[in-house]
Amino acid sequence: MASPFYITTPIYYVNARPHLGHAYTTIVADVARRYHALKGQETYFLTGTDEHGDKVVEAAQKENKETRDYVDMISALFRNLWPELLVSNDQFIRTTDPEHIQVVQDVLQKIYDSGDIYFSEYEGLYCFGCERFYLERELVDGKCPDHETEPKRIKESNYFFKMSKYQDWLINHIKNNPGFIRPQRYANEVLSFLKEPLEDLCISRPKTRLTWGIDLPFDDKYVTYVWFDALLNYVSAVGYPDGEKFQKFWPGVQHLVAKDILKPHGIYWPTMMKAAGIPVYNHLNVHGYWNVAESKMSKSLGNVVEPLDLAKKYGVEAFRYFLLRDMTFGLDSSFSEEALVGRINSDLANDLGNLFSRVISMAHKFCDGKVPSDHPDLAFDSDWKLSGNAMETVEAYDVAMEEFQFHKGLAAVWEFISRMNKYVDFTSPWVLAKDKASAAQLEAVMYNLLEGLRLVAGLVWPVLPAAAEKMVEHLGLNKDEFLKDPEALCQWGVLKPGTPLQKAVTLFPRIDVKSLQEKEPENTMTPKVPELKPEIDIETFAKVDLRVGTVVEAQAVPKANKLLQLTVDLGEEEHRTVVAGIAKAFKPEELVGKQVLVVANLKPAKLMGIVSQGMVVAAVDKEVIGLATVNTPVPPGTTLR
Ligand code: MSP
Repeated sequence: MASPFYITTPIYYVNARPHLGHAYTTIVADVARRYHALKGQETYFLTGTDEHGDKVVEAAQKENKETRDYVDMISALFRNLWPELLVSNDQFIRTTDPEHIQVVQDVLQKIYDSGDIYFSEYEGLYCFGCERFYLERELVDGKCPDHETEPKRIKESNYFFKMSKYQDWLINHIKNNPGFIRPQRYANEVLSFLKEPLEDLCISRPKTRLTWGIDLPFDDKYVTYVWFDALLNYVSAVGYPDGEKFQKFWPGVQHLVAKDILKPHGIYWPTMMKAAGIPVYNHLNVHGYWNVAESKMSKSLGNVVEPLDLAKKYGVEAFRYFLLRDMTFGLDSSFSEEALVGRINSDLANDLGNLFSRVISMAHKFCDGKVPSDHPDLAFDSDWKLSGNAMETVEAYDVAMEEFQFHKGLAAVWEFISRMNKYVDFTSPWVLAKDKASAAQLEAVMYNLLEGLRLVAGLVWPVLPAAAEKMVEHLGLNKDEFLKDPEALCQWGVLKPGTPLQKAVTLFPRIDVKSLQEKEPENTMTPKVPELKPEIDIETFAKVDLRVGTVVEAQAVPKANKLLQLTVDLGEEEHRTVVAGIAKAFKPEELVGKQVLVVANLKPAKLMGIVSQGMVVAAVDKEVIGLATVNTPVPPGTTLR
């Protein structure tokens, strides 16, 4: 049995809403997890939120919220985003979880008892943004390199962790374990930092300054420094020290972070583990930064990319594919919607999508909709070596995926897809089909193509799970069995002749760049709020009779692709007919039983020959995107004000 695999993302600060950067890391973790699951390994995937510290308190104050309410709200935004991006985390940890707090206190106590934590007065330069002290030499022009603000000189008595004691051990560990921090450039960065003497780490904050944190178990006048608390989430989540999950998954742990938090993960965390007697992680995988138009994403620049908007606009799988394919893991990348559309059209719609629908349609046309017999000698394989090429692709892909080189893994798969497309053109099955004498050769070619698609489906599954499963089902296979058979995923000749195939479908629709540009001349990442209409007084508003209605029937309006005809119960003797322009956003069957808000005193109007006796209230962007409703069922006819 293959060894278990445990992947973590950073736990995200709840001082800001999720953006493209968070989505990237979490999707990468998901892809790594799915890849290892496909290889037959038991997997565990952890993400979550980092909820203590000054930053969070400040952010809550800015929004006039109680800290606890605020962290609950932002944490939920992260938690709820992941399923939308097809992220399949097993656990979502919050550093305010009681189990986590207990582990932090136990580890602190253990290290304190062993003598590696001491109390001392310290005067230094403190950056409130980073929540840490800086050395003069770390500053750039006297300013914090991250926040570009001058740190404040503060003098405080605090608790310190003897990090310096572990400096030589850490240097040796990094040198003796290639890949401990990868790609290598980041290991070099840490080693170069370690050339200077390592300072001890201040791990407490006096409660006079900050109370939103975990109490030190040995001094309740202090709370724990947020990094000492946060890093321990990786073990607390799996039940350190005795939990079954910790025993099973910790030996297979790999962390995933971006370069911004290399130091805490490459220095603080290994030395903390060493001091606490926790075996250190296997790999720290470090990726670069997504920039937008060559600059850092930031709220003040107004260029923060909302992952959900993109996933909704272009399809979540296309979005995942783009992120994985376009960033060279370890380096920075520049995000643009044009590049995203380019990738979707060329790689997904053209290369993969066309190949799939072409091959499946031909199999229906020429092979009676079934997997044909295999005739290895007749498949032009001495020229094309498609089967050999497929096996080489799997090998190259595996090496890349094991090392978190996702762009390389996908590039290898797309080379194979391109080879298959050329094979279709070269073998021209439609020509073979014209000649009865070529019947066996036609079968051989089609078998090879279908088999190639089967392999491709397995290889793309970690990134494009839904599309891959669709492919598998079209090949007449059971997707659950397919995903549980790691052997078959790296073998040629698995499809059984005679297996019925499903009819071809479009995997990825092409995106019409022109229509996108016409529709959206402005930057779509920063939607403009429409201008307010002229002010009205309450009496004017009160003239609108808004009522809650229950939809009892709904049907399409013939020849009108935007309209639905609704029968709405407004608590009156007779139900009303309301014609609504919502057909693009809702199917009739979705609406029956729903409560909607109706303008009940609107003058009736005829639409496509039907008299509409009211209007439903909808959320409209350029098109209808939602319907207004009440948050709890109420009797039909209830008025609104
Ligand atoms: N709370 C700490 C992490 C504690 S882990 C024990 C933290 N949180 S964070 O919200 O700032 O998240 C940082 C992480 O978000 C980065 O390491 C990266 O995973 C992701 N990204 C944030 N912005 C990013 C980009 N612009 N590009 C790519 N990923 C980035 O640090």
